[in-house]
Amino acid sequence: MKNIIVFASGGGSNAQKIMEYARQEKAYNIAAIFSNNSNAGVLQKALEYNVPTVVFTREDMENGSLLSKVQQHNPDLIVLAGFLWKFPADIIEAYPNRVINIHPALLPAYGGKGMYGMHVHRAVHTNKERESGITVHFVNNNYDEGNIILQEKVVIEECLSPEEVAVKVLELEHEHLPRVIEKLLNNLKI
Ligand code: GAR
Repeated sequence: MKNIIVFASGGGSNAQKIMEYARQEKAYNIAAIFSNNSNAGVLQKALEYNVPTVVFTREDMENGSLLSKVQQHNPDLIVLAGFLWKFPADIIEAYPNRVINIHPALLPAYGGKGMYGMHVHRAVHTNKERESGITVHFVNNNYDEGNIILQEKVVIEECLSPEEVAVKVLELEHEHLPRVIEKLLNNLKI
């Protein structure tokens, strides 16, 4: 069975959906959840699914020890699911086209440094966009700029707040991300 590792910084609802899907469908093995935040809710969720966790610091990212921790888990794919730091260049280089990210908007709109989580939904709502959506893309050394793997749209014109936009977009993320991972691992058309 193919191996993935997941990076997450916060609550980890996407990571949870991935763990749920992997368990139900026996689609892939989650070798570990990595987090930069020792208080992240995702760590508790990993425990519930018996998935090992790795907590790391900025120093680990800078001195190469994060790369060796990643290598120890032998991933076929690395998934950033709500990971909010810039991803280290040495890992991207070691895993070409094998690091993917999910972004809660239709890139290239609403991407770049500082555009994450609710910041994205606030900007989308302030601009009175009719649609938002999700983008799954390969990770390169610039925030949110790698090749796009999948985009899905949702109409948000009836949303009265950024929080309502967030709910609609998150539903899309939960529906698609676990399946995109499976297809990528099996070289299937997306
Ligand atoms: C998700 O909406 C994800 O797309 C976003 O953070 C949220 C994490 O939610 N990621 C970014 O904004 C990256 N630029 P979760 O912890 O509940 O999965």
